[in-house]
Amino acid sequence: MKFKPGPTIAAAAVIVVAIAALLTSVFSGRAVADSSEALATPESFAAINDTAARSAALFTEAGKVLTHPRCVNCHPAGDRPRQGDDRRLHQPPVERGADGFGLPAMRCPICHQPANFEPSRVPGDPAWHLAPRDMAWEGKTLGQICAQIKDPARNGGRSLDEIVHHVGADHLVGWAWAPGGDRRPAPGTQMQAGALLDAWVKTGAVCPN
Ligand code: HEC
Ligand code: HEC
Repeated sequence: MKFKPGPTIAAAAVIVVAIAALLTSVFSGRAVADSSEALATPESFAAINDTAARSAALFTEAGKVLTHPRCVNCHPAGDRPRQGDDRRLHQPPVERGADGFGLPAMRCPICHQPANFEPSRVPGDPAWHLAPRDMAWEGKTLGQICAQIKDPARNGGRSLDEIVHHVGADHLVGWAWAPGGDRRPAPGTQMQAGALLDAWVKTGAVCPN
């Protein structure tokens, strides 16, 4: 008996082709997003012979994280946090208050739980609050952010090693790589960001222009 594809088989073939096309578009889309959001390793800067230039280049790479909306939204220039990739002002209107946890009537932890709350896409962390004014990064160049991060008078009294540890291991900072909802995570991984800053410190912590 000769095999003839019946209507059912033809329909199934169409569905298989459609699913394959869908998967291809999904995965190729993801691949593009991944490669643009990756971080270069410290080793990949080894070809820059001049130590100061290498140090500045390492910080510039880490700057992809520092200037990312997941970080800057909590390091705003004003008293209100920002939201989303378009960095719009936080809704509802909340302000940093005396301790960064908000005004007495609108404290951050009222809404921001110890972990992301997916049903209403509210970000969460046990220490969720706004960075102090002198740690504002919004509207600054990477060189200005670099100088500020190095300055104990404006970085919470931290040594450079403490900055490396803070970026590479702090739980609140780590939220930026697992931000919940459909938020775009910070580039690379938290460990890679810490490794870049560690290499930056070991090459003299030179700031880019
Ligand atoms: C009345 C509830 C409420 C209070 C109080 C509140 N938030 Fe939010 N916040 C939200 C909600 C809801 C979202 C998510 C909005 C969205 O992405 O659609 C959010 C998102 C954010 C984001 C955005 C993260 C990103 O990168 O998109 C930041 C930053 C933030 N809040 C900081 C704070 C800080 C700091 C405080 C305290 C000073 C605070 N919030 C107080 C409800 C609140
Ligand atoms: C939910 C808000 C929030 C988010 C998100 C956030 N920070 Fe912060 N950040 C803070 C607060 C609050 C402080 C001050 C903490 C302290 O001094 O103990 C701070 C301080 C810092 C400091 C030390 C002081 C300075 O500015 O020199 C660094 C470095 C830092 N954050 C890096 C980051 C990076 C990198 C990201 C993103 C990957 C990030 N933060 C995301 C709230 C946030």
